[in-house]
Amino acid sequence: MNQDQLKQLVGRAAVDYVTSGEVVGVGTGSTVDCFIDALAAAIAEGRLTVAGAVSSSERSTQRLQKHGIRVLDAAEVTGLTVYIDGADEIDGQGHMVKGGGAALTREKIVADLADRFVCIADASKLVQTLGKFPLPVEIIPMAAAQLTRRFATLGGTATLRAGVVTDNGGHILDVTGLSITDPAAFEAEVNQWPGVVTVGVFARNKAQVCLLGGADGVQTLT
Ligand code: 5RP
Repeated sequence: MNQDQLKQLVGRAAVDYVTSGEVVGVGTGSTVDCFIDALAAAIAEGRLTVAGAVSSSERSTQRLQKHGIRVLDAAEVTGLTVYIDGADEIDGQGHMVKGGGAALTREKIVADLADRFVCIADASKLVQTLGKFPLPVEIIPMAAAQLTRRFATLGGTATLRAGVVTDNGGHILDVTGLSITDPAAFEAEVNQWPGVVTVGVFARNKAQVCLLGGADGVQTLT
């Protein structure tokens, strides 16, 4: 199976985690696109109903609406049973690096509403230690130079993602050269730096379940 087929596989598997009749939290990315398509197919076949979705990006909103799935504002719900999203990296404890698609801030907001984060990914995303994938950080533009210096003190090299403005009007720094051995402490520290909107380490909002697609099918990590 190629990577696209693995994404479709875990996208379909994630539909089983959606509670019929409820509002579902929806992440962003190519793997989530597969989940949205599988969710729409399940609804069309009468296997499931949803009351709607809370979406983490304009991209996912458009895809959900194209399928006729109602998109609710985050403020319209007090909580969600489940949030389904992909990751750029995930470790064995469910800590993730996210934000390759620049949607990390809204992803963290929707994840925080949910009782359970179900991560869907192909097996290449599983790592021992986070940090090989350039860490996305959404920032306020005027803080870019100071934050670049701060990341350098941690051994990181920050590069402004050219031409990208997030759904919130922020910019993205991608930071290479990090080895994130304590994701919770790292997330707490970087979140305090002035000008950081969201750091792409998801430790506080880590995944409780990871559906990992590989040659042998879907492996479930809990
Ligand atoms: C977007 C994300 C995505 O979940 C992450 O980049 C994985 O994307 P893909 O499923 O396309 O590999 O965090 O901000």
